[in-house]
Amino acid sequence: MPLLEALKNRKSVRHFAPEPLRLMELSFILWACTGIRKEENGFDFRMVPSAGALYPIETYVAANNVTSLPKGLYHYNIKLNALEELKLGDFGDDISRSALGQDMCSEAAAVFIWTAVFQRAKWKYHQRAYRYVYIDAGT
Ligand SMILES: Cc1cc2nc3c(=O)[nH]c(=O)nc-3n(C[C@H](O)[C@H](O)[C@H](O)COP(=O)(O)O)c2cc1C
Repeated sequence: MPLLEALKNRKSVRHFAPEPLRLMELSFILWACTGIRKEENGFDFRMVPSAGALYPIETYVAANNVTSLPKGLYHYNIKLNALEELKLGDFGDDISRSALGQDMCSEAAAVFIWTAVFQRAKWKYHQRAYRYVYIDAGT
């Protein structure tokens, strides 16, 4: 699809195919949204921009319907491009409740949960770190 057409047709989607997500697809999405793009002078640079390249955002996955991955909560280890198992189980209802009762969150094959380690940005940016962290989350 040409870029202009893609831009004009972009819209939020709230209905998803019931088929499971393949582990390689999940892996690709994780890497593409926050993985390591390059290493330079001993520093890792991620796929997304980040104020001061401080990368305060952490990514967690609630896996619900991913082939070869038991249902549960995982943390994305960026350096190893790997998932760390935190807790197995079905957390769909909790996640849906946390998202103000949106059913799609309990039905989705996987839900990404982003948190921030504010101190990574605060030591340099002080008060404005609170603004930058949310912009970082958006990118
Ligand atoms: C910060 C932010 C939070 C959002 N949260 C939700 C949400 O919880 N549920 C949802 O269905 N859409 C959510 N959206 C999508 C907006 O509802 C959507 O972008 C808006 O209705 C415009 O529609 P469009 O994206 O199709 O152009 C969110 C968008 C942003 C930027």
